[in-house]
Amino acid sequence: MYRGKQILLGVSGGIAAYKAVELLRLLVKAGADAHVVMTRHAQEFVCPLTFQTLSGNPVHSELFNLIQEREIGHIALADRAVLCIVAPATANVIGKVAHGLADDLLTTTLMASKAPVLFVPAMNVNMWENPLYRENQARLEHHGYHFMTPAVGELACGWEGQGKLPDPAAIFDFAQNLVGSRDLAGRTVLITAGPTREELDPVRYLTNYSSGKMGYAIARAARNRGARVILVSGPVALAPPEKVEMVQVTTAREMHAAVMARCEGSDVIIKAAAVADFRPLERGTGKMKKGDRKQLSLELVRNPDILADLGAKRSKALLVGFAAETDDLLANARKKLADKGVDLMVANDVTEPGAGFGRDTNIVRFLDRNGKVEELPCLPKEAVAGKLLDRIQSLLKESGGKKFRRQ
Ligand code: CTP
Repeated sequence: MYRGKQILLGVSGGIAAYKAVELLRLLVKAGADAHVVMTRHAQEFVCPLTFQTLSGNPVHSELFNLIQEREIGHIALADRAVLCIVAPATANVIGKVAHGLADDLLTTTLMASKAPVLFVPAMNVNMWENPLYRENQARLEHHGYHFMTPAVGELACGWEGQGKLPDPAAIFDFAQNLVGSRDLAGRTVLITAGPTREELDPVRYLTNYSSGKMGYAIARAARNRGARVILVSGPVALAPPEKVEMVQVTTAREMHAAVMARCEGSDVIIKAAAVADFRPLERGTGKMKKGDRKQLSLELVRNPDILADLGAKRSKALLVGFAAETDDLLANARKKLADKGVDLMVANDVTEPGAGFGRDTNIVRFLDRNGKVEELPCLPKEAVAGKLLDRIQSLLKESGGKKFRRQ
């Protein structure tokens, strides 16, 4: 998405300035034409030569530098950028722009640019919580400036709390949101991800190996393409994506209720979750003791099938299912597609090397209601998410740009 695009990376004076180096590296690797503007304080933390070497472009810092101004003035920097990212963004820079002050090259360029601006704040937790800072951020958001939320953790100032610059990879991913195609703008996409957990007693549960990576990748990709995204997630060890409406659930029945309550307002529903088909008939209120038993049988009962219930409802949402198989991939996936009333099935053989639970790659096939099968090679889950959304987008277009209509 970044390839060939001019991105302005503003670096202001905070200890997290060193992380902007990694962000720049990611942007350059993705083919962006990155131009760095540093404040004077930022140069106390990282040497401009580091950014210059990595970007292959001169680093700008002085507003009244005649040589820089002749070669590429601040107005040209502002005009040519398709996106400005300020990372780290200090309370000072944010406060100045919020009040229309432009007293150095970075603030002047930001104020002169018509491109989207993403501020990635990093500061002491008390500054972050200060009502004056909060007012400044709210004022900028009101005027269409974008913000990422700082991470929580140990801060360089010695305090614990919110204020850390998010990982460069997360900034890189979030900023794609502002440069890529917005072909899903106006659509609501409901996604389920991760496993469900079915309790036996207060200390034990039944679950599966799903990591949630596939569903979370789809959620980020759909958000990046402009969709309103609702992510209903089982228990996973992944960070909730920015600007996605999260609904955390534990059991299959909770997931069923969360999805059913939101399906009517959705244009697309993608069921990437690995839902437990059964739950213990009874959940012990206390820890089950082994006693002198040599064997133990558990009595299980069926959980609701969320996808089948959605299919039976024949709502106007385009319905996408996943079929995780170990044998007879296509036959099983076709049967699930028909039985559950699904429009598009994403089938994967979880035993194939490069596919399946917990991995960063997947090997999938798309099956549609007309019997068409599209085979994809082994791809990172992010890329699989992109291909799936391309396919969904073309199905939505075929339906005349209106709500998806099932036959
Ligand atoms: N699914 C669901 N509710 C369930 C079970 C599955 O919504 N109780 C959905 C999954 O989210 C997935 C699809 O159905 O999109 C297929 O899930 P999968 O586990 O592959 O198959 P099952 O239908 O459970 O069938 P089986 O276990 O017999 O393979």
